[in-house]
Amino acid sequence: MPKLIVTTREGETRTVDALVGLSTMEVIREAGVDELLALCGGCCSCATCHVYVDPEFADRLPAMSEDENDLLDSSEHRRPTSRLSCQLPFDDSLDGLPVTIAPED
Ligand code: FES
Repeated sequence: MPKLIVTTREGETRTVDALVGLSTMEVIREAGVDELLALCGGCCSCATCHVYVDPEFADRLPAMSEDENDLLDSSEHRRPTSRLSCQLPFDDSLDGLPVTIAPED
C-alpha cells in the first residue's frame, strides 16, 4: 500500500497508509488527522484542506483547476507549493508524498 507522509501544524510527522482511489484529503482524514477540516467534503469550495506538497512531487500531481487556483488565492498562507488536498487523487505514483498542513486562515 502506498504511503503518505503528513506533517501537522504542530510539526508532528506521521507516515500513513494511503488507499488508492481516495483523495489526499481523505487519506489524511482517514488517518485521524482532523485538524484538516475539509468542511466542504471535497467539492473544491472551502479551502480548508490546504496543504503544502513536496516540490519533488509537483510534476506527478494533476494540473490545478481555475476553481482551485481561485480558492488558494483567498488564503493568506498560499505558497508556490500550495494545493487543495481534496483535488489530489492518491495513486501509486504518489507513494511517499510528503505534505504539510497549511496554517488555518
Ligand atoms: S475539502 Fe473543501 S476545498 Fe477541499
